[in-house]
Parts: sequence; structure tokens; C-alpha cells
Amino acid sequence: MKETSLTRMISLFCVVLLFSCKQNQEKESSTELNTNLSLSEEKLYRPFYHFTPKKGWMNDPNGMFFYNGYYHLYFQHYPDDNVWGPMHWGHAISTDLLTWREQPIALHPDELGYIFSGSAVVDEHNTSGFGKDGIPPIVAIFTYHDPIKAKEGKTDAQTQGIAYSLDEGLTFIKYEGNPVINNPGINDFRDPKVSWHEDDKKWVMVLAAHDRLKYYESKDLKKWKFLSDFGEDIDKKIGAHGGVWECPDLIKLPVEGTNEFKWVQFVSINPGGPNGGSSTQYFVGDFDGKTFTMDKEFELALQKRHNFWLDFGRDNYAGVTWSNIETKDKGKLFIGWMSNWDYANQVPTETWRSAMTIPRELKLVKDSLTHRISFAPIQKLSEFSGKKYAKEDIIIRGEQKLIDSEQIDLTRAEIHFTIANPLKNKYTFKLSNQNNEELLFGYDHVLKKFFLDRKKAGKTDFSEKFSGSISVAPRIGSFKNLSGTILLDKTSIEIFYDDGLTVMTGIFFLTSPFKTLSISSNTEVFELEHIEINELNFN
Ligand code: FRU
Repeated sequence: MKETSLTRMISLFCVVLLFSCKQNQEKESSTELNTNLSLSEEKLYRPFYHFTPKKGWMNDPNGMFFYNGYYHLYFQHYPDDNVWGPMHWGHAISTDLLTWREQPIALHPDELGYIFSGSAVVDEHNTSGFGKDGIPPIVAIFTYHDPIKAKEGKTDAQTQGIAYSLDEGLTFIKYEGNPVINNPGINDFRDPKVSWHEDDKKWVMVLAAHDRLKYYESKDLKKWKFLSDFGEDIDKKIGAHGGVWECPDLIKLPVEGTNEFKWVQFVSINPGGPNGGSSTQYFVGDFDGKTFTMDKEFELALQKRHNFWLDFGRDNYAGVTWSNIETKDKGKLFIGWMSNWDYANQVPTETWRSAMTIPRELKLVKDSLTHRISFAPIQKLSEFSGKKYAKEDIIIRGEQKLIDSEQIDLTRAEIHFTIANPLKNKYTFKLSNQNNEELLFGYDHVLKKFFLDRKKAGKTDFSEKFSGSISVAPRIGSFKNLSGTILLDKTSIEIFYDDGLTVMTGIFFLTSPFKTLSISSNTEVFELEHIEINELNFN
């Protein structure tokens, strides 16, 4: 007998209900413990300026758009527990990308399934016809994941749906014609990212399909036509294939300092990242409205350097860009999920789980071989600078303390440093606290690698995969100086080396905040040309 939509709705509702009842039962026994825990975890672990949900689970950023002065951020959310579960789209808004106000949940699961990752566009010209009384609709395009079909092992559990909002993204009405793209029998078929293709005056969607990307086009966001595939040829070594491809983004970026534009294709992969677990790779080339083709020089560089990664830290995943806004250099604004599937469900917070990265400005720069992405924290952050410590030409002997937390609060700080004409040494920064916990990071000139070592940075035993090895990033190109910008926010470090050409993002869970920042090298003496540490005014 064919299942009616009502019975499906009821069974799906039961799956969601059962899921939350089971989780709640498990939680009740430890309520007392949780109350104490959550007080101290608020103080110790709730970041000052990185977005976290008030309570519950969060993963990928979704549907980001800018409209009428507000940046919107939706996110994969399970509000009833701190582990992954039936996915909703949570919602937050901000006018500065640094202070966020959480809003009511924007999309709930329904009879077609959970609401997985996707994007949102401002349909300025009402191509979809969803607009009313001159109000342009905001259209969200997302993946439906049918948990019943998935459990039964069916390969067509994921389809694409749309919903529209007539109140600037606060509430959404699901389209009655959903799904708008049916599943052709591919297990992992998800995470639509849609953008307006100005040359062809049409919408383009890029979708992750297990080991490749699929491009579609549409005039009205409802009817979609398949165009082409990219990345499927594993033998040709098109990018990394150590895991499933997810959360793609296709963007057009100006090449810095030229009038030229290039297309860049991002795709997240889990597992198979350069330092284990989840990570995001990218490709540079051209998109002619139908097909994405890598530049020849990029392809050659890809073979030489293996892969191009947006971030070599372990905690920047599923990142995509904001729609309907550009930076003043026509670049894009990006945000990622600051965690890793290797341990995201186990990190030691109870009330909520995980944060987003700092929003970043994306640029495309040309080096001697090809084009590369560079990142910078959004400029707005400088407006939050408070107390400052700055010093030039410091002679460093052995391990030297640079600053302690009485001078600058190291739980909310921005650091810029330059070591001029560095010798062939290993330079190590150390953040440490009264409990002998320490986070080490820096650059090894002999290995030509940046490193980030959180082995002794507080709690690590919640997951074997958390701190097992030191994350490293190759340094590509030749540079006169060693310089970088470092952001600290209680449980996270984001390091932008060489003007953002190499980025390392990592999370950690101390038992007490950092007290001192010091630096050392394996040479007797060297000169730190410049260091500036700003306390960031958030509370
Ligand atoms: C990536 C991802 C997406 C999926 C979502 C489900 O982290 O696996 O591919 O849509 O999370 O929550």
C-alpha cells in the first residue's frame, strides 16, 4: 500500500520524539552535575565573539545572506540535546558579524525529513514568484534527509527542498512542490549552494554527490536542470578523496591587484583532511555557466602540492560564503564550523556544543605557480580593540615571557607579530596556565612547516582523536619575514600566517585560563621585530 503523507508525517514525528525522549532520559540522572558544570563551562568555555547556540547541538553554517543591514546565519541545529540529532535550521542575526542575537528556529523537520545543510538567496527580482506586495522573498534551498529511508538502507534518502520567507528570514514557508530535486540513487546527495549567475541571468546550484559535485541551473529556483559533474575522476587525482564530499561553494573572486576574475570551487571532505578528520579543499579555474574547469596551472600545482586546503587546523569545516554581500574589494565573507567530526560529539561542553569560526574575508592572490586563497579576520574586529601592548625589536634569549594575563586578558586577544629575516630555526610560541597546561604553535624552518600542538592544552581524554598528533601546515613560497595574526577566544585559536595564505584553526579545553604568552627558539638569541597584543572588548 502506498504510504500517505499523513502516515509518513506521523512516523517521522515519532522518530523525532523517540530520539528526544531517549536523550532526555539519559540526561535526567545527571541533572545536578550538569547545573554545576554549566556554570563553570559558561565562564571557561563560552566564547566572547564566536557564535555559539544558547543550548543544544550545532554543526555547519547554513543559508547565510545579508539583507537590510543584517547578516543572517542559519546553522545545523538539534535544540533538544548536545549531540547530533534530527536537524533543524537554527538562526542568528548580527549587524557586525561579531555580536549575534539568536532567533527562533527557522526550519523544522517535516514529513520529508530532517533539514540538512543548504543556502539562501535574496530573490530580488522575484524570479520564484514567492514574493508578495513588492516584498522580495528570501529563498532557502536545503537537503531533506529522510531518516526512515536512511535506516532502511535506501539510497534515495536525500532530496533537495526549498522554502521562502517574506519577513526577512525570520520565518519560512515550505514550498508545496517539494522536493525540487529527486534523488537519482546516490547515498550522499546534499548541501545545495545556490548563487545568481549574472552572465546567463540564471540561478546555479552546486551539490555534493558522494565523490563529486553536480551543477544545476534554474530560472525560478523551483525547476532545476542538471548541467555537469566535477571531481569524480579519482584516478586523475582531482583533489582529495579520503572521505565523502560535502558542503560545496562556487564563488567568483577578483585576483588581487588585477582586473581579472577567477572561479573558485570549495568542497569539504570528511574524513581525509590533511591533519585528520574533516577539512575543506578548493580548486581554482573557470565556470562557464555549465561546467567547472580547473586552470592548467592550478592542475599542475595540485599535482605538486597534493591538495589545496582552506585551513590546516583541525577545526574549520563545512565553511561557505555569505550571499548578497561582498567585501569592499569584491571579495567574499566566509564562516566555518569550528569543530571536526572526529570528536565534535564528545567535546567537553554540556549546555551547547561547538562554535563557528571568526567570519573571514576571502581573497584570491597569485603566487609564482598559481592562484591561492588568503583569509583575514573581518576588519570590523579592529573596532573592538581595547587595551594594547606593543613592543619593537625585542631580543629573545631562551624562552622569554612576552605578556601575562594581568596586562592583557589572554582569553580575548588579537596578536600581531613579525620576526624579520628569520634564521633557519624553530620558533615556538607558548600559551600556558597555572595548571601546567600549554598550547604550542609556530614555525619550523628546517621542516618548512607551521605547527599547532594541543597535546597538553587541558582536557584531551574525551576523544582519542582529539590531540593524538600535532597539526602541521607546509609553507609554500619564499618569504622574507615570518609574520602572523593570532585570535584567541577562550577555547579557540585562529592563526593567519603570511597574510592569511596559511591558516590554522584549533579548539582546546583548559581547566583554567591562560596566564602567559612566551616565545622561544632553538637558537640562543633572536630578534622579535614587532609584537602587538590587543585585548578585545567583548564581555
Ligand atoms: C556536514 C554534513 C552535511 C550535512 C549535515 C548534516 O558536516 O554532514 O553534509 O548536510 O552535516 O547535519
